[in-house]
Amino acid sequence: MSTQRTPAAAQWMRAIDVAELRARGRGVVRLGSRQIALIVDAREATQRVYACNNRCPHEGYPLVEGHTSPQDGGCRLTCNYHNWAFDLASGDNVYGGDRLRVYPVELRDGAVWVDLAEPPAAERIAAAHDALREARAEHDYARIARELARLERLGADPRDALRAAIVESHDRLEDGMTHAYAASAAWLRVRGDVERLTPGGDDASELRLICLQEAIGHIAWDTLRAPRYPYTDTCAAYDRATFAGAIEAQDEDAAIGQLHGALAAGLHVDDLDDALAGAALAHYADFGHSLIYLQHVRYLIAELGEQVEAPLLRPLVRSFVRATREDLLPDFRAYAPALASWPAAFGRAAGPVTVDGGLPTRALLEQVVALAARCTPQALYVALLHANAVNLACFDTRFEQHAASKPGEDIGWLDVTHGITFAHAAREQCGRTPALWPQALLQMALFVARNRDYVDTTLAPPPVDAQRFARDGLARVLDHGVGLYIHSAHLLKTWLAARDELALGLPDAVAATLRAGAWRYLVTPVKQKHTRRAARLALAFVARED
Ligand code: FES
Repeated sequence: MSTQRTPAAAQWMRAIDVAELRARGRGVVRLGSRQIALIVDAREATQRVYACNNRCPHEGYPLVEGHTSPQDGGCRLTCNYHNWAFDLASGDNVYGGDRLRVYPVELRDGAVWVDLAEPPAAERIAAAHDALREARAEHDYARIARELARLERLGADPRDALRAAIVESHDRLEDGMTHAYAASAAWLRVRGDVERLTPGGDDASELRLICLQEAIGHIAWDTLRAPRYPYTDTCAAYDRATFAGAIEAQDEDAAIGQLHGALAAGLHVDDLDDALAGAALAHYADFGHSLIYLQHVRYLIAELGEQVEAPLLRPLVRSFVRATREDLLPDFRAYAPALASWPAAFGRAAGPVTVDGGLPTRALLEQVVALAARCTPQALYVALLHANAVNLACFDTRFEQHAASKPGEDIGWLDVTHGITFAHAAREQCGRTPALWPQALLQMALFVARNRDYVDTTLAPPPVDAQRFARDGLARVLDHGVGLYIHSAHLLKTWLAARDELALGLPDAVAATLRAGAWRYLVTPVKQKHTRRAARLALAFVARED
């Protein structure tokens, strides 16, 4: 990066006598609030003097203690603590990460003068965005945090960094969506909570920063070293049925062409909501991700604006096209007939109603269809939410821990958390598009049935009061200590989903189970990696290849 900058009003300050500095070779002076390192390059005939911030931009150790070496006819300064190296003329980082702040120097009247004028804020903001792009490219988490902190300190809107991350990463996702964008929406919501819950608090800025560094860190991780997977640039006149047909036919180019046509015609995500939700629920697909992703994409577009609309809708549509259609698997083939037998109208009973979460898939779907004729979708929704909450509260973690699972039985916490996050997305979606209640409710039932063999209903997790769930839950998701983003993202999204559903005013028993289940998930260490299971499955699989 060049040090060329817009001229600003110079602030020359006298630093030290030239003779004294040359005699010592280097030194540190305090000018205003800054500690400036002054370094003489004795190798140059002119004995050029360089000035830079004495704090290493890595961890702050004193650069005056560093060592110098030739650098393209100039001078390289290497910090002795972790070997970061800088071109002293430009401040460019030669090895490491952040740039070094260097200052113009003049020698006059026998003294060293240093210009302390800062570049204009707009220039520094642009530089922080450039640096953030570099940090994202390497998933340099600490640097991502520092550059975001710089943006905040400069008075910039740090959400611009998230906008840029989405725009610049959206065609690097082979399957179209990952949890990174969905989690970004959840982090933005939590960021808003921090503003509301800790106004002016000492740690509010720290908590706000966590939200953005996690969001951008996750995007950086999911696109690390990924090539571009370009989208078609075709644009076809939008037609809802053609759009749905292209997704159903798993024809990405046709579906994206339709999307482009819709956007070119001035339509926005709200106008497409109905069609997108219909496509998301057309199958029991991809573990419910399609609808969950649509929910989060809508939130991101509402928060970040039109700039991210196309960059989010393209990967969303690609993910719909590529979604695994689980209703084609034997376990879930009862879904289509159950949907076909759905009654013409919902009943009027507002509840309470219960479903039997211990029933096998077909029987449970039949029970849900029968109940639909008697009760409202909301009552049935609460019953199915309760059954999914029981699965969460009573998940038998031995299934996650053991190494001897068979293929298809590699069950973990994420299997049961999706029952809650899908329910959350389904309830919000059907509030806007009630015609989709049958699909949403039956798919909630499929989550109940698929997890029923992995719960121990004799478990009774301790109750958690509402205040603790909200307050300590926020603290837990912010300081999660979880290494893999996929797991921290699920902690966050499950807690938020549960919190939103609890805010609806659920019946006491349902609320207590949901709180206890979500809390149990929040505080139970997740087994993030299965070394023995992977090895055991591989050996068993390969042994049957001959
Ligand atoms: S503090 Fe200078 S390289 Fe780490």
